[in-house]
Amino acid sequence: MKIKTAIVTGASSGIGEAIARKLAAENIQVVLVARSEDKLTALADELNAESGAKAIAIPTDVSNQEEVENMVKKAEEAFGTIDMYVNNAGLMLDAAVTKGALNQWEQMIDVNIKGILYGLHQVIPNMIEQKYGHIINISSVSGHEVTKVSTVYSATKFAVRAISMGLEKELAHTGVKVTNVSPGMVDTRLIDGYKPNRKPLDASDIAEAIYYAISQPNHVNMNEITIRPV
Ligand SMILES: NC(=O)c1ccc[n+]([C@@H]2O[C@H](COP(=O)([O-])OP(=O)(O)OC[C@H]3O[C@@H](n4cnc5c(N)ncnc54)[C@H](OP(=O)(O)O)[C@@H]3O)[C@@H](O)[C@H]2O)c1
Repeated sequence: MKIKTAIVTGASSGIGEAIARKLAAENIQVVLVARSEDKLTALADELNAESGAKAIAIPTDVSNQEEVENMVKKAEEAFGTIDMYVNNAGLMLDAAVTKGALNQWEQMIDVNIKGILYGLHQVIPNMIEQKYGHIINISSVSGHEVTKVSTVYSATKFAVRAISMGLEKELAHTGVKVTNVSPGMVDTRLIDGYKPNRKPLDASDIAEAIYYAISQPNHVNMNEITIRPV
């Protein structure tokens, strides 16, 4: 089976935007999701003008369960079925426990963990019913390693990996695939203010890896991808 329709969260910038561009270039219809309506609409217009695939923008706060539910309903109305869901929207804020930025921890937990679960809750039943689908969860190398400034962010990204690992087992024999993607530093606004010790990856590098995962034969479930700069 070939992926025909995809929802990409966090599509207004960085890695999500690059994934949306790659999928559209490969003739996959894309639903662009984030909070910034202007950016989503501009990207949808550009993709609709440049590619054969249709793109639609559905502004959504993924940390709001009702908004995610409505977004998936609208996406299904537009495209019939959803074959792929890319859980990419995420925040990296002040994460050292000793800094005590409680409000920022709440935001990371709400977007990076709850936001992912709300999306999965909405799309998985239909994927199981159609016996086909692909979930992509964007974790991070911070979901494998913890530094003294990444504690809470890493906790959210470990959670993303845990969700991917459990989900892969839950979905065995259903035809629905799960791929957890753990990027190292990628050149997006998320790393503004950080001094990388290696040249960061380009967002398109992550998009290419995801396209590789979804291009595998039906019987191949590529579960884990870790990508670091050289
Ligand atoms: N850059 C890196 O080095 C790196 C490394 C490993 C993993 N990651 C992960 O990759 C993912 C994408 O990050 P990025 O680097 O591309 O950063 P980015 O350019 O800041 O993109 C983050 C995206 O998430 C969206 N977003 C944030 N809060 C949201 C909310 N409540 N509801 C809906 N959308 C929301 C943003 O859109 P709006 O602001 O318009 O809502 C934006 O489109 C994140 O999960 C991040 O943790 C990044």
